Amino acid sequence: MASWAVVYSPLQFSCLKTPLRCRSAWAKLDLVSRFPHYAYYQSALGLPILSAPDQPSIRGASDQVATSVDIVTDQVYQQCLSPDCSATFDVGEVHTACPKCGSLLDVLYDWDRNEVPDSLRWFEKKWSRRNEPLCRSGVWRFSELLPFAPPEKIVTIGEGQTPLIATDGVARYVGTNPGTLFLEYEGMNPSGSFKDNGMTAAFTHAHMIGAKRAACASTGNTSASLALYCCSSKLMQAVIFIGSGKISYGKLSQALDYGALTIQIAGDFDDAMHRVQQVSKQLGIYLVNSVNPFRLEGQKTIMYRVLESLDWQVPDWIVVPGGNLGNSSAFGKAFHELHALGLIDRIPRLAVINAAGANTLNSLYNGHNLRWNGGRPDNSIINRYYAELDAASSKADTIASAIEINRPVNLMKCLRALDWCDGVVREVTDQQMLDAKAQVGANGLGCEPASAASVAGAKLLREEGVIAPSDRVVCILTGHQLKDPTATVAYHTTDQEEFNRVLGKRGVSRAAFANRAVKVENDLNEIVQAIQLNS
Ligand code: F0G
Repeated sequence: MASWAVVYSPLQFSCLKTPLRCRSAWAKLDLVSRFPHYAYYQSALGLPILSAPDQPSIRGASDQVATSVDIVTDQVYQQCLSPDCSATFDVGEVHTACPKCGSLLDVLYDWDRNEVPDSLRWFEKKWSRRNEPLCRSGVWRFSELLPFAPPEKIVTIGEGQTPLIATDGVARYVGTNPGTLFLEYEGMNPSGSFKDNGMTAAFTHAHMIGAKRAACASTGNTSASLALYCCSSKLMQAVIFIGSGKISYGKLSQALDYGALTIQIAGDFDDAMHRVQQVSKQLGIYLVNSVNPFRLEGQKTIMYRVLESLDWQVPDWIVVPGGNLGNSSAFGKAFHELHALGLIDRIPRLAVINAAGANTLNSLYNGHNLRWNGGRPDNSIINRYYAELDAASSKADTIASAIEINRPVNLMKCLRALDWCDGVVREVTDQQMLDAKAQVGANGLGCEPASAASVAGAKLLREEGVIAPSDRVVCILTGHQLKDPTATVAYHTTDQEEFNRVLGKRGVSRAAFANRAVKVENDLNEIVQAIQLNS
C-alpha cells in the first residue's frame, strides 16, 4: 500500500542510538516484552488478537503477558490524575478516562529508567542529523522527554518544523519593548495547525496497540490532522465528528480531501464530543481527542521548541488560546517535568485566553475562584456551572470556531497547569481577536481567529500591568491563516452586508486594521490612477 508517512523500522532507528544515555534500556527490550498487553487490548478494541502480517513483533503477545508487566510499569505507565485514586495502567492500555473513578489520565515515566540528557543542549546533537526522520520531526527529536513509544512504531509526517519569530510590530501592538514579543508559528505544521504535534503521538500509540480506525470530534483542526495521518500512513481509517455548520471551509475541505469518514451531526462541538466518546466505546474505535493522554505528550514538544529557539532560555510568559484546554495542560506538564528533571531553573507563567463567547475556564477560574487545590478542586462549582448552562440552553458562540467550546475536556489538567505555572486566565471578545489577527497578518505571519486570542490576551494583560513592558512573551499561533478565510475576508471587506453577515452578529462593529480592496473599472487609466492614489 502506498504511503509517505514514515513508520520506523528498527534498522532505521539504530542510527539514532548514541552513546549518550539514549534509552539504552528500551533498546534491549523487544516490543512484546515492553507492551505485554497488546493482545488483550486488541481484543478489547474489537481487533483480531493475531496482528496483521506487517506487525510481526506483536504476534504471540498473549504468551508474554505474565512475565513482563513490571518492566512496563516501571518505565512508563498511565496514572489517574486524582490523588484520591492514583490508579495506574499499562502503557499498552487504551483509556480516555480512569476506569476506576472517571478522572483524566497522565502518561508518566520513571526517569531513572528512561535516562534523559543532563542538559537541553544535548538535543542540539540531533540538528546535524535532519536526514533522519526522527531527528527532523519537531516532536520526536525530543523523544527522550516522551519515551513511551518503541521507535519502530513511531509514525511521523515531519510535524513540528515550526519557527519562533520575534516581531516588533506585534510587540508595539501588545505594548511590550522591542525584541520581547515572540510568535510560535504552529500554523506551519503539515496540516496547518498545532494538532500535528499531538496527533503524531496519539497516532503512534494507536499504531502500537494495533488500532485500525481512529476517531475524533473536532472544530476542524483535529479532524484535519487525524485525516492527514490516516491517509498518509494508510494505517487506519479516520472517523471524524463535526458540528453541522460549526467548522470553517478550510478545515472541512482538508478532512474531505484526505478521505476521512465525516459524520456531520446536528449540534455543536460539545455535542460531537459527547457522541464520539459513546461511539468509539461502542465500536472499539481509537479516540484521538485530547482526553487521550498520549496526545498531550506530543504537544509538550511545542514548549521544547520554544526553549530551543530561545537558546534554551525560559521566557517570562507563554500565552495560549484556551478551547478544550489540551495545549495549556500539555505546556504545564512539559515545564513541570523539565523543572523536576533539573533541565530548567524556573517555570514561565502561563496565560490561557478564552473567547468571551466560550469562556467556561475564565468564568470558573476568575468568576468562581475554582482552583486545582492539590488535585481536589471544588467539583460542586463545576457541576453548578454546567447545570446553569444547560438550564439556559446556553451554547458557545464565537467567530473563533476552533475554540467555540463550553465544556473543555481538559479542565482539570489545565487547573493543574495554572497551579504549576502561576497562571492567569482571561477572555477576549471577537473584536479584540480579529484586530489582533489583522496585526499578526500585517506583520507577516497570519493565523486563524482563535490563534489571535493569544495576542489579544497578551495585549490585555499588558494593559492591566500583569505583563511588564520588558517581559519576554511567547504567544502561540495555533492555526494557519488559510484555515478560515471567511473571517479574514469579512474583516477586510468593503461590503457592509458581508461584514454584518459574518462579523456583525458576533458583536464586531469595526475593522480598525482593515486593508480594503480598491474597486475600479476594467480601465487602464482608472487602474493607474487608483494605484497612484493609494501608494
Ligand atoms: N487554536 C486552534 C486553531 C484550535 O484548533 C484549537 C482547538 C485551539 C486553539 C484550542 O486548543 O483545545 O488545546 O485549548 N481545536 C480543537 C479541534 C478543539 O477540534 O480542532 P486547546
